[in-house]
Amino acid sequence: MTVATETMTEQRFGAEPHGGTLINRQVIGADAERLADEARGLPARELNARELSDLEMIAIGGFSPLTGFMTEPDYRRVVDEMRLANGLPWTIPVTLSLDEEQASRVNPGDRLALTYAGQPLAVLDVEDKFRRNKEHEALQVYRTTEEAHPGVAALYREGDILIGGPVSVFALPELPFPEYRLPPVETRAAFAERGWRTVVGFQTRNPVHRAHEYLQKCALEIVDGLLLHPLVGETKSDDVPADIRMRAYRVLLDNYYPQNRVLLAVNPAAMRYGGPREAVFHALIRKNFGCTHFIVGRDHAGVGSYYGPYDAQHIFSEFEPGELGIQPLFFENSFFCNRCGNMATDKTCPHPIEDRVVLSGTKVREMLRSGEQPPATFSRPEVAQVLVEAMKDR
Ligand code: ADX
Repeated sequence: MTVATETMTEQRFGAEPHGGTLINRQVIGADAERLADEARGLPARELNARELSDLEMIAIGGFSPLTGFMTEPDYRRVVDEMRLANGLPWTIPVTLSLDEEQASRVNPGDRLALTYAGQPLAVLDVEDKFRRNKEHEALQVYRTTEEAHPGVAALYREGDILIGGPVSVFALPELPFPEYRLPPVETRAAFAERGWRTVVGFQTRNPVHRAHEYLQKCALEIVDGLLLHPLVGETKSDDVPADIRMRAYRVLLDNYYPQNRVLLAVNPAAMRYGGPREAVFHALIRKNFGCTHFIVGRDHAGVGSYYGPYDAQHIFSEFEPGELGIQPLFFENSFFCNRCGNMATDKTCPHPIEDRVVLSGTKVREMLRSGEQPPATFSRPEVAQVLVEAMKDR
């Protein structure tokens, strides 16, 4: 009886993890020391910043049900069918590559130390070694083979041979924003503590402007809480750096959001700019962090003009209802309309474009660089102030 009640209570706050079990690949205490000792004697594979983000996500369960880097059956089915080998939806390959020379020295059955800045962090049990076709992967995942696409460029920088298998993580380096670096168990506990049964996740790699705020607050009208979950892994060089964004999120939340309805935590993943496929990936990650709903607006995770403005919404219809286990909330392009005197979209505003505040990302960056604050109809003054000052310092 007691057990049943506990299970029911647990299930009532937030979503089930993807695949049903929240993965934890972190090894602690004496086991961690033993593994660290062993790792010092193993051949090492140094990780870059993106791979470190993936390792952290696997370790904390953000990528549940993945327990490591993908083996060939998972990799091939994800690339070609947007599913893991067991049929579960999954849209982005999570891979670890080697160049030909490194690969000649690694075989299935080996154990490898994964290091960052020379520091051993994890042991990878190599289960599989296989060749990838990078152009095919690029076309399937990013819908382009052009190197001008930052996700494709990152893929092309990697090796041609992939190794897959589970990881056991005994250390993570000191990483920024420790107070906001909540693993899924902690965001889930925070939702339960606040009594949030339904929680909407918001992905962003930008400062939160009025359009983002509008989406979040529309969603908050129908769910219990908001997880503001900015991505702080690697982004492209002209995106606003994460430390500046974190300051901007803080002032925004302190001034314009009810504190008992919002949780700010960071998503350690790296940005892929994979548009539609990354939108589904972002949703599954937020499901692992406990969200029941996820916002997908205009050109989610897009870059340049590689994707249509609503492609990242259309892709969700390629999955059966309920299969993803998180409810996407779709929003059209939103803007401030001077005639309406509020935020709106084409669904709610009849006025022509001349009445609307439309500023491109490039224009906003230009304004900030020259010390000019974007209008309050575009960005809250407190947020604009943080951004202008940060630009001055740089
Ligand atoms: S993203 O790469 O993380 O998607 P961004 O931080 O700009 O970029 O967007 C965060 C979320 O807000 C995404 O779901 C995106 O589609 C949505 N979004 C951003 N700007 C707008 C807008 N003006 N109207 C509607 N949705 C928007």
